[in-house]
Amino acid sequence: MTNADHADSRQLLRSRPTSPVVAPSVLAADFADLAADCSNALDSGGKLLHLDVMDGHFVPNLSFGPGLIEKLRVSLPDTCFDVHLMITDPEKYIEPFAKSGADHITFHCEVVSEDEAKRLADRVRELGCTAGIAINPETPFEKVQNLLGSFEMLLVMSVHPGFGGQSFIAEVLEKTRRGREEGPANLILEMDGGVAPETAEACRDVGCDVLVAGSALFGKSNSQRPEVVRTMLG
Ligand code: DX5
Ligand code: ZN
Repeated sequence: MTNADHADSRQLLRSRPTSPVVAPSVLAADFADLAADCSNALDSGGKLLHLDVMDGHFVPNLSFGPGLIEKLRVSLPDTCFDVHLMITDPEKYIEPFAKSGADHITFHCEVVSEDEAKRLADRVRELGCTAGIAINPETPFEKVQNLLGSFEMLLVMSVHPGFGGQSFIAEVLEKTRRGREEGPANLILEMDGGVAPETAEACRDVGCDVLVAGSALFGKSNSQRPEVVRTMLG
């Protein structure tokens, strides 16, 4: 497969995928050879790229900003960019990330009130992207319960945000199950953190649509990656 085969990818999060997809998480890619490593992950069966933005405040780590996404967009013009803002002040940064080439922007429920969340989701859509709300492992589901109809996606964190390579927290599966049961039928459910061949089936079983894979995918050699994606999709 070549990048030309990913031509429809930018539309991917405009509606709920008809079957689960794997989203390679750029955080675990080779930053010194980023576009090539991401291309390989897409050629291995990944359908979109998950891009983790960290501000060193909401999470104890820094990653990258809109400048990097803008450059990556030039190399990968047809790939859906799923931007996950792990930042304290999403309002300030939604616009630069939308303009950098994001197709979808998720921010965290822990940093906004319900009213702010709905207002910011509208802002994300005004800027041409779809909107996601993310929930940390220790945050009760009730924090997003009234927001499910205002977002295209619910992202359930299955590790404590900030770092790749952590172990999957199985207790959060209940939140995804509730999202599927209580949210609109077209709500996209994403699982993020520690998702790997060993944990993907449990995610799919509760109705997960997008399986984010960082170290499970980029930690493998290029030749092993297609098998990782296949196993995750069952
Ligand atoms: C964690 C990030 C994840 C991370 C996942 O804070 O939100 O997207 O890249 O990495 P793995 O798959 O290695 O747990
Ligand atoms: Zn993420």
